[in-house]
Amino acid sequence: MRILAIAAEAAPYVKVGGLADVAGMLPRQLARMGARVDLLLPGYRSVLLQGHPFEPAGEVEFPYHGRTARVRLLRMHLEDGLTVTLVDEPAAFGREGVYDDPVTKEGYRDNPERFAFFSRAAAEVAVRELPDVVHVHDSHGALVPGMLRVVVPHRLLRAPVTVLTIHNLAHQMQCPPEVLFAVGFPRELFFPLGPLEFHGHGNFLKAGIWFSDAITTVSERYAHEIQDGELGCGLDGLLRTRRGDLLGILNGIDTSVWDPARDPLLPANYDVNDLSGKRVCREELLRAAHLHAPDQVPVIGMVGRLADQKGLDVFAAAAGRLAELPVRFTILGSGQEKYHRLMNDLARWRPDKFSVYLGFHDELAHRIEAGADFFLMPSRFEPCGLNQMYSMRYGTLPIVRRTGGLADTVRDVEEAPADGTGLAFAAPDADALIGKVHSAIRLHRNEPLRREVQRRAMTQDFSGERQARRYLELFEHLLRRRGS
Ligand code: ADP
Ligand code: GLC
Repeated sequence: MRILAIAAEAAPYVKVGGLADVAGMLPRQLARMGARVDLLLPGYRSVLLQGHPFEPAGEVEFPYHGRTARVRLLRMHLEDGLTVTLVDEPAAFGREGVYDDPVTKEGYRDNPERFAFFSRAAAEVAVRELPDVVHVHDSHGALVPGMLRVVVPHRLLRAPVTVLTIHNLAHQMQCPPEVLFAVGFPRELFFPLGPLEFHGHGNFLKAGIWFSDAITTVSERYAHEIQDGELGCGLDGLLRTRRGDLLGILNGIDTSVWDPARDPLLPANYDVNDLSGKRVCREELLRAAHLHAPDQVPVIGMVGRLADQKGLDVFAAAAGRLAELPVRFTILGSGQEKYHRLMNDLARWRPDKFSVYLGFHDELAHRIEAGADFFLMPSRFEPCGLNQMYSMRYGTLPIVRRTGGLADTVRDVEEAPADGTGLAFAAPDADALIGKVHSAIRLHRNEPLRREVQRRAMTQDFSGERQARRYLELFEHLLRRRGS
């Protein structure tokens, strides 16, 4: 099976959020299971500067804005069955940021043009290489399935089956319709309620949902949540019409990168049978965070994008009362300016309780996962969430809002004493959050129970193999359905 995977970020080359972890690992897992995978990424300047052995792999050309665009491809063979290909277009990708301008912290205004161009080049790669499956991630590649159906179909000897994975329905990439026409979508397809139109604008993700053979989300619960109400983000109606082709496949995690027994970024390693190294990690984390916490006082970690999605308004509303409890917070994140201010204010106000690092820091993320006792994710919505899985593997018990993938991966130990793996609260409000922090404090003091819950959490199977197997089954099913 030959798979063309298309994403805007993939670890270890370029990472903004969890999409990178998944888009980076899944192709590797699929290749290990015998598929041949080419992972197509934009040729960001930062990636080109990393010095990987990319080699020229020819050019693709296509009509663009009344001229012929010619784009160089660069390719690297990684391991058996796995290549990474870059679309080398300096005008679109030869700049500092991935989605946002690092100075203004705002999204680049021409993001729709950049990713429409990338997608158009991707469609040409599909024409040239004829994969069996085209697997696109999120809005950035979501135009490709439609392009294969209506822009280049006459040049495809055999139509690949197409799968769109929605990592976050809230980011749809809306644009002026001209952006879509410039990459070859016919004007006739832009009409109210049609495949390309969304309240008068173009919409990449809508086109992807419309044209893909199957749509996946990154957890089962999220696949249901987006079919109605607020989390449907205006596309719930369309998603309901496609419900037969929509399914949730829970993300896996890269257990070679996230393994407390081998993680080279930790001051000490440990495993489920011997947690002494975790104590060292805790002490080191407290030292680096300039915090003091006796053993019975739990350290609560937070790592992530500082965005509305992550429930930081709920955390802000709770912070005053949390500061009065016997807990410490170590927080790492970057994102919206208002939350940078909030975090700085907290750290200045109660440096004995809140330690904050603003920025992207992979090593610190690992050290918090290992050194904290609990890990807080009060998300308003969470398509999957990876950090709660990382934290469980590191014996750091998650405290999560029960939504999306958080609900699918964390069992509340107060509700399910026999097999709970963390703590989960339902309402997105300060009282519910504080209630669970009280539970965490009690659990922390009950050493035998805490050890048992840690043991369960650390031995959960969140492996990438499980996820990749489900994708292979889906691809095989679609290929059979198509009749090949
Ligand atoms: P999302 O994709 O919505 O941001 P996930 O939980 O799926 O949330 O994935 C976030 C990923 O990004 C995790 O691997 C997390 O460790 C990482 N991450 C987020 N913010 C930071 C940061 N400031 N520094 C280091 N890693 C971060
Ligand atoms: C998105 C979601 C997150 C998910 C990640 C990887 O960024 O916000 O919940 O874990 O994608 O699928």
